[in-house]
Amino acid sequence: MTALHPIRFQPDMEVVPEDEAQTTAELIEALHTIQAITTEDYPTAVRSVHAKSHGIVKGTVQVLDNLPPQLAQGLFAKPAHYPVVMRFSTNPGDILDDRVSTPRGLALKIMLPDDAATEGGVAAGLDGTFSQDFVMQNAPKFTAPTPKAFLGNLKLLAKTTDKAEGLKVALSAVLRGTESLIEKVGSESGAIKSMGGHPMTHVLGETFYTMVPLLYGEYYGKVSVAPVSPGLQSLTDQAVSLKDNPDGLRAAVVAFFSQNDAEWEIRVQLAADREQFPIEDASQEWPESVSPYVAVARITVPKQDAWSAEVERSIDQCSGFSPWHCLSAHRPLGGIMRSRKPAYEASQRHRFSANGCPFAAAAAAKNPTQTPD
Ligand code: HEM
Repeated sequence: MTALHPIRFQPDMEVVPEDEAQTTAELIEALHTIQAITTEDYPTAVRSVHAKSHGIVKGTVQVLDNLPPQLAQGLFAKPAHYPVVMRFSTNPGDILDDRVSTPRGLALKIMLPDDAATEGGVAAGLDGTFSQDFVMQNAPKFTAPTPKAFLGNLKLLAKTTDKAEGLKVALSAVLRGTESLIEKVGSESGAIKSMGGHPMTHVLGETFYTMVPLLYGEYYGKVSVAPVSPGLQSLTDQAVSLKDNPDGLRAAVVAFFSQNDAEWEIRVQLAADREQFPIEDASQEWPESVSPYVAVARITVPKQDAWSAEVERSIDQCSGFSPWHCLSAHRPLGGIMRSRKPAYEASQRHRFSANGCPFAAAAAAKNPTQTPD
């Protein structure tokens, strides 16, 4: 069931604080500090955050037939199918032993035909391709309400880049204990999870959320991707043994896709009123009892090699996901989303250039003023 009366987006729902440009510049600087350190340390340049991939797979998105008008919007306006790339990650900017157990990420890149640019007002990525991306984590709300609040957390994290991995593993074990205690008494702490207190669960069993809103045609909402095939659902909350393998999460994903196909649903939660479904407070969970997530498309991924030298080069090193690679019908909304636009561009420009990606010069020329180097 959709929200019975989803509300239409109104421009006055977005409010830009006077100092937002300054906050965003400081966020980019903190992210660049992380990336500059890791670029020195690793053979290739990696993302400022979500640096470690746990598998990259290719499949198809099929928009569902007979969606009601409120759901048949933007990409989901009519039944169609599109190629999709899915990248699973965890959130630190350095490549850590998986026993430092942190929130899981999923980025979707739904490839659009070239005429989407004229028909749907889509912006090309720095690599020149047109896509609708959904960039998600496995929680329904963000850890901070605003970019300014997030900046404090990020500055702390930036200071821990590349510092004593053994200590992070030990801290992660302590935090997991703390987190499971907190969960037993009925709440959970995003901050503890993001520092290493996430349970050591299989990444493929998770449900992922955009956490923050985007336009949904005339309406606005959040998007999720939920496992629906029995093989994926059996992995929900399933522990992965990471004892002997620092890359155990990737090994588990590769093992799954060597034997299995998989299916997820793409779902949308439409906003039903201004108070309970705010745009400018990213830390507020929107009530599913008032407006549940409902399916609008299905992703199918056939059995395949989920990690290869080819995807490592073409997608891990030389491709970028961003919520701002989108149709105008799905423009990201709110402060956290606004700050992500230049932050993702800066991280990608640095990566593409340091990794000698084929389109790096064109990417650098596109918007040289935002390069932090
Ligand atoms: C709703 C909140 C957020 C979610 C769900 C999220 C999720 C993700 C995910 C999954 C990735 C990996 C994308 C990939 O696989 O390539 C990523 C990358 C990244 N995120 Fe976020 N993120 C959020 C907020 C932010 C914020 C507030 C910032 C900074 C202002 C930020 C900066 C970045 C950067 C710089 C990258 C790397 C981009 C690249 O080099 O490709 N994120 N994020």
